[in-house]
Amino acid sequence: MSSDRPDRGSARQPLEHIPVELASAADYEALAPQFMAPATHAHISGGCAREVTLRRNCTGFERIELSSRVLQDFGTANTEVQLFGRHLKHPIVLGPVAHQKLVHPEGELATVAGAEAVNATFVASTLAHVTLEDIAKGATSDKWFQLYFQPTQDITRALVERAEAAGYHALVVTVDVPVNGLRYRGQRAGFNMPATLQDVNLASYQPPPKSLHPEQSVVFDGLMGEAPHWQDIEWLLQTSSLPVVLKGIINPDDAVRAKSMGVAGIIVSNHGGRSLDGLPATIDALPRIRRQVGANYPLLLDSGVRSGGDIFKALACGADAVLIGRLQVYALAVAGALGVAHMLRTLKTELEVTMALAGCPTLAAISPETCLFLQEEHQ
Ligand code: FNR
Repeated sequence: MSSDRPDRGSARQPLEHIPVELASAADYEALAPQFMAPATHAHISGGCAREVTLRRNCTGFERIELSSRVLQDFGTANTEVQLFGRHLKHPIVLGPVAHQKLVHPEGELATVAGAEAVNATFVASTLAHVTLEDIAKGATSDKWFQLYFQPTQDITRALVERAEAAGYHALVVTVDVPVNGLRYRGQRAGFNMPATLQDVNLASYQPPPKSLHPEQSVVFDGLMGEAPHWQDIEWLLQTSSLPVVLKGIINPDDAVRAKSMGVAGIIVSNHGGRSLDGLPATIDALPRIRRQVGANYPLLLDSGVRSGGDIFKALACGADAVLIGRLQVYALAVAGALGVAHMLRTLKTELEVTMALAGCPTLAAISPETCLFLQEEHQ
């Protein structure tokens, strides 16, 4: 790949209308390779190491069997949900995905415009290609800021203050990638970030220079030396008035610890199979975490969600809402803001049809007892 601009190679230009073959939300995944350079597609679609967790995320959903109740009253049916003191029209959130100008010249601005069209909450990544302020200007529906802790507390505080000033409604702190997973697929395809595409949210800060002795470990002494600890979460809870949500929890003990500290909610995530290979599918980890944190604690899920049926299953297994990762980048690449809006609307319709056929007029009616043929691990 060229080092100064996204190499589109023979990639097609984004579409200006939605073709008939884009019937389901998942169809964007199949079409996306035509709209990106192969190395960019490898970087985005890949998981880590042998990609066991990447595969599990999707097969985990497939293994779950639904039940259905017939002849239910849908007179007041809706998909609404309360989260972090806010009323959301539906439980579909666009999760933080970095570097969106890799696939579309407007990057995150097009994605947030697509989210607006369907009242979807948008989570802006620390590593966005558009500043968090410009993203917020485009958003009238809810927006959350995803925070990566920075090498100094001053820089982290500055980012938090900017997110507060720009009107974000929550801070999503990603805790599962203090070190990037072993992302071999992009590496093998020769993916490099073009030099013209900057991490604009971080452009004005100068972290102290790093110097390691040759015998020191880049992982342990370098990256892990700067990684946040539980004390940093305590600090953040005292520093910001925004609800703090932790993203990337898969262990029930971590979930309980976060809850007891005053963390507002948890996103059960394995980073779309991009952090530690070998982790379980999030849909398999979720029921145990729900049991540990109790019924009323906000729990969200991402990783592997590709359809409204998957969203329904996540809710049945204990989630209050889901985040969409790769599907948003695929939709952005295929048809810009229009694609993102269409993909989200399709997901919502898929969820509504699933609710109707399963006999659940509200999200509250979706429960393991009524919706799943219970397998052992979900009991
Ligand atoms: C991500 N993800 C991510 N997460 C995060 O907290 N901050 C970020 O900047 C990014 N960036 C990012 C880039 C790319 C290319 C991908 C594929 C993913 C992880 C993301 O928020 C989410 O956890 C997963 O993408 C969910 O899995 P699915 O929906 O992609 O299967």
